[in-house]
Amino acid sequence: MTIFSAYNDTKNKLREAGIEPYVFEAKQIIRFVTKYSNAQILEKYMEPLDPIKELFLKSVVAGRVKRIPLQYLLGEWSFFGYDFFVGKGVLCPRPDTETLVEVALDLVGNAPAKIADLCAGSGCVGISVAKEKPITLVTAVEKYDAAYDFLTRNIEKNGAENVIAVKADIETYETNEKFDLILSNPPYISREEMSTIDEETKNEPETALFGGEDGLDFYKIILDKWLPRLNEGGSLAVEVGAGMAERVKELFIAAGLKNVKTREDINEIERVVYGTL
Ligand SMILES: C[S@@+](CC[C@H](N)C(=O)[O-])C[C@H]1O[C@@H](n2cnc3c(N)ncnc32)[C@H](O)[C@@H]1O
Repeated sequence: MTIFSAYNDTKNKLREAGIEPYVFEAKQIIRFVTKYSNAQILEKYMEPLDPIKELFLKSVVAGRVKRIPLQYLLGEWSFFGYDFFVGKGVLCPRPDTETLVEVALDLVGNAPAKIADLCAGSGCVGISVAKEKPITLVTAVEKYDAAYDFLTRNIEKNGAENVIAVKADIETYETNEKFDLILSNPPYISREEMSTIDEETKNEPETALFGGEDGLDFYKIILDKWLPRLNEGGSLAVEVGAGMAERVKELFIAAGLKNVKTREDINEIERVVYGTL
């Protein structure tokens, strides 16, 4: 089997399984399996695929047609230009969440800052900010074992020495520390929406998705428990689900935050709500 035939075969199997971005995913898979760049693939497309790589390719395609997230099958995913280990038990980093990182970088500017990343999961938010702004110190808080394990591995993988992992529940964690910026992409799917999530998302942990009856539970916890830990003039920025921005803005304003704004993601969905104390 050549690299070219492996690509075509993968693309066809994904298409037959009804996977919509089958071209994008087939390219991702072939790049990952061969460890070649796009340019190298174009150059070497008639090369035979190594039998071990062919076996790996088969197992990835077999898992993918069963709707296991591609990220879990590859074991790694890129977010904001950094690579993160991912797998069962942790939320796959989403491109939408890069908006939260962009807002964080704008809020931090060039000043040194103490930052909290609440509900850190893989650590994609806190680690990306820490790598972009090496003079910051990021505390990444995650409650669940599997996700916490990915968090600590990703800190090491990215050499993010300015990120400290804390295994704790954001609702009960006690600390006297104060922060200049608090970030969070918390679970925010409502009970009603949980019944409509796609097959891939069903493979991700419910503890990373479910945000209470109306999806707002974690925003309320963050405002209640973490606003007192924000320095005067500090900011809070959170990711929100599609259609939630207005309700979260109201919660921010009621809690006393000023200059409350939203930022859209690449699909023009209001994705981040942020405000200043
Ligand atoms: C929506 S995921 C976001 C993960 C990561 N920040 C990202 O953007 O990909 C929410 C994360 O919050 C964690 N989590 C849920 N409840 C928590 C709690 N009470 N305290 C701390 N972390 C919690 C979940 O395990 C999950 O990793």
